[in-house]
Amino acid sequence: MKRILFVCLGNICRSPTAEAVFKKRVSKLIPNIIVDSAGTTNWHIGNPPDARACAMAAELGYDMSGLYARAAIRDDFHDFDYVLAMDRQNLADLETLRNGQGTKPQLFMDFAPENSMREIPDPYYGGEDGFLQVVKMIEQASDGLIDQILTLD
Ligand code: 4NP
Repeated sequence: MKRILFVCLGNICRSPTAEAVFKKRVSKLIPNIIVDSAGTTNWHIGNPPDARACAMAAELGYDMSGLYARAAIRDDFHDFDYVLAMDRQNLADLETLRNGQGTKPQLFMDFAPENSMREIPDPYYGGEDGFLQVVKMIEQASDGLIDQILTLD
């Protein structure tokens, strides 16, 4: 049983998209898996994902309904086997929260070595292109992570 947590800044754009995309792509391959997402801030706690992220996800076949933002907590490093940051600031904030205990967070894009970008850019203040890029990068990293889990287990 593997447990995966995706983390971004607000938990309304990138990490809920990662949760939805990864859940769909992994579901047929690995049935017993727990997938969740969280933010490094409390800014949007209880809110559904950003409407622009939902629209782009829906266009590409992913369902973001039923997801609500929460903040990452210290227990997450004990409750999850993978804690995956969208960018380096998320990673640094997670390392501060972790305080040396539990699962070490990683950059999600490290599972997509074929892409030269190591960070998934924050799409919040940009246009539709940014949201499309987010989904495409998440699809690549998700498939890399699925390959790793299938190889190791
Ligand atoms: P996310 O995007 O970290 O991918 O959820 C953002 C969401 C909200 C804000 C920034 C980024 N904000 O400034 O409120």
